Amino acid sequence: MAEIDRYRSEDQRATQLLYRRVFGQDAAEASRLRWEWQYQRNPNVPTTGPLIWVAREGQTVIGQYATIPVRLSVNGQEIDAAWGTDVMVAPERQRQGLGEVLVRTWERNVGAALGLGLSDSSSNLFKKLKFPSFGPVPCLVKPMSRRALRRPNWPMPVNRLVSALTYPLVRLVSRARPMQGEVRVIRQFDESFTRLWNRVGGKFAGAVRRDAKYLNWRFIQAPHVRYTVAALYRDDEAAGYAVYRHAQEPRGRATRLIDFFADPHDDEGVLSLLRFVDREAQAADSDKIRVFATHAGFRKQLRKSGYYPWRSSMEFVARINAVPVPAAFYASADGWHITAGDSDQDH
Ligand SMILES: CC(C)(COP(=O)(O)OP(=O)(O)OC[C@H]1O[C@@H](n2cnc3c(N)ncnc32)[C@H](O)[C@@H]1OP(=O)(O)O)[C@@H](O)C(=O)NCCC(=O)NCCS
Repeated sequence: MAEIDRYRSEDQRATQLLYRRVFGQDAAEASRLRWEWQYQRNPNVPTTGPLIWVAREGQTVIGQYATIPVRLSVNGQEIDAAWGTDVMVAPERQRQGLGEVLVRTWERNVGAALGLGLSDSSSNLFKKLKFPSFGPVPCLVKPMSRRALRRPNWPMPVNRLVSALTYPLVRLVSRARPMQGEVRVIRQFDESFTRLWNRVGGKFAGAVRRDAKYLNWRFIQAPHVRYTVAALYRDDEAAGYAVYRHAQEPRGRATRLIDFFADPHDDEGVLSLLRFVDREAQAADSDKIRVFATHAGFRKQLRKSGYYPWRSSMEFVARINAVPVPAAFYASADGWHITAGDSDQDH
């Protein structure tokens, strides 16, 4: 029978080997690059070490559940929570109940258990455990060029026709509009972002605490991706931010708006940030801007700024243990603020 306990530094080699067997060589290399940052340097990691559980059989590691601890605001009350990220069981030991034991261990030890962007097997596992699911995090796309609406599976003449027909619309939504408030690129989140969080964080049904410490770790110190951060200031106090990066994708060039934050009632502030990102996307010659966002208010502002709903498969699950919530709490993520900057989605 396997024994489950916390990760120790001497488990590093065994867990890396298991990772390679389960997820493949490339994913293992990528994970190694960000491992220390992701699991050890996060400011929310407890003094007892990384929040990772390991399943052992004698000297052999046959499973693990690695998680990212965060503070979570639930209707204004902050609790300890953790994103379940790298869960894996040795291929020859799968479908024998070990995954279930690992999930239960994680869940028992955190105030709220959160999952984002599940694989087929883990989605089934969470379903089996009756984990509340909010479904996919809505995705929205803003077309910036005629190429934005092309599909690789359409013949070129069809793509050209679609581009030509939609060109007037694309020009209309992507036109530059004036900005209000001062938006500038920053290299560090200062303490006024913590104050912004303290003012605004309680307005969400659920959101990960985005204070300066967390934001610097998540978006400035990440070793594997380079983000640009645009901040909105009013009277030298932070009023919001947007984190983005440009990427060449098989279907063209995209600006990925990975994370953003502001008072959801601050329409003017959010629109200023979105206009800044528009200009940056234009300067980078992007065909589109893509964003994932749960909050209904933010999605409304995105729609107003020229974004359209797109399909999404980034499933979001959560179970809150530390504070009581009514069953209706799990009915919709419209009041949550979850983006692609949460968990380990962007890597
Ligand atoms: C996800 C994982 C950790 C589950 O571990 P496990 O020990 O196989 O889990 P269990 O034996 O407790 O299985 C519980 C349920 O998970 C689901 N499940 C597990 N493996 C599955 C698979 N390959 N396909 C579909 N469903 C699967 C099933 O619902 C299963 O219940 P069932 O056996 O009664 O049908 C394991 O399958 C794994 O390592 N997968 C590859 C890595 C991965 O995708 N990790 C998740 C990253 S988000």
